[in-house]
Amino acid sequence: MTAIKRVFGRRVWDSRGHPTVEVDVTLANGVVGRAIAPAGASRGTREAIDLRDGGRALRGKGVSRALASVNGPIAQAITGMDVADQSGIDRVILRLDPSALKETLGGNATVATSLAVLHAAAADAGKALWLHVSETTGFTPSLPLPEIQIFGGGAHAGRRVDIQDFMIMVPGADSFDEVMEITNEVYFAAGDIMASKGKMAGVADEGGWWPNFDSNEEALETLVSAIEKAGEKPGERVVISLDIAASEFCTDDCYRLALEDREMDNGAMIDMLGGWLDSYPIASIEDPLAEGDVEGTREFTRRFGDRVQIIGDDYLVTNAALVEQAQEDGACNAVLIKVNQAGTVTEGFDTFRKARSAGWGAIVSARSGETEDVSISHLATGLGGGQLKVGSFTRSERMVKWNECLRIQDALGVESFVGGAPLANTWWGKQSKKETAA
Ligand code: PGA
Ligand code: ZN
Repeated sequence: MTAIKRVFGRRVWDSRGHPTVEVDVTLANGVVGRAIAPAGASRGTREAIDLRDGGRALRGKGVSRALASVNGPIAQAITGMDVADQSGIDRVILRLDPSALKETLGGNATVATSLAVLHAAAADAGKALWLHVSETTGFTPSLPLPEIQIFGGGAHAGRRVDIQDFMIMVPGADSFDEVMEITNEVYFAAGDIMASKGKMAGVADEGGWWPNFDSNEEALETLVSAIEKAGEKPGERVVISLDIAASEFCTDDCYRLALEDREMDNGAMIDMLGGWLDSYPIASIEDPLAEGDVEGTREFTRRFGDRVQIIGDDYLVTNAALVEQAQEDGACNAVLIKVNQAGTVTEGFDTFRKARSAGWGAIVSARSGETEDVSISHLATGLGGGQLKVGSFTRSERMVKWNECLRIQDALGVESFVGGAPLANTWWGKQSKKETAA
């Protein structure tokens, strides 16, 4: 065993310029593991609390209370423990804060510590993080299929449009490199179209083009044009993925699209999204209804679950019990895995297992507030979950994750890319299977 000798939290700064928590875990043999907590902007109400100081300084976003959790009770409790005992360490952290949402210690304190422990254990074993994750969880590693944002929206773009993420996936690519190449072409084609229409206005929070549109559907139409301008046939190698993030514009069962001055109940919302599924090559859709709209999410899944991947993000908040409940309810068929929503690595992995054991999709995901931390590239690969969502194709806090996958590819081999396998049960997978048979 290698004991943890020191746990130290420091304040660093994220991609939005806000403070966040970085933790160093130093072992008795001098090995160090380090991780940084990310931060969401469109957060689910049931995810682990991002503990902030409040008040006027730093817009209330100071992290001195979260750092006090790391450098006080957490450090005290886990110093001396065997770094390889990830679940034991996470259990001790949970015992320090048994509150449902980790409001005492702060989810930002717990996740940075838990991930730093994972990094230290991998370094101690002399293994890359993805390999350590694969070996300790028993999953076969593979390079994930990326979901990459072309237009940002919702809470990531001052609510300029209501829908949050207009993304592409390239399930028809033969390699991870090819996904990067095609994404580059589509991203810049979209920028050219915006510029030619006089609509270029920079980028949103996650690096996607600012959504200077007159309707939500105009973004979809522009995305299709961008795919075509990049020389691709929409729906063939390249498909569309949306994060509706519907909780952000739903109040009292009423969905309100501000851009179009339109109000809908969940039935009308489902019909509208169904219309989009008919008109555009969409293979994946996240949070189509609000986090509390169980009836709507069930109905959406009943109608479209055999055609598209339906991901619960705010709806499931990386919580194994909520995933189990949704599986019983017939709501969603995939889950977004954001370790900081759960608060510890062990809870994140448990949720991943719960999803995969029922044949669900599982998409390891970044937050809109990110840093140079590349843990998620390793988690997505090591868990062999098949999908990774990072944001767009500009800005280093995003590119660092894609670039890390390229380095992992060099170790793991080009053939370890999963390609379109995660979308096998969608219309895209069924169509491509038909084509292969013919
Ligand atoms: P967030 O959004 O990180 O701002 O919560 C990301 C997402 O909804 O997937
Ligand atoms: Zn989301």
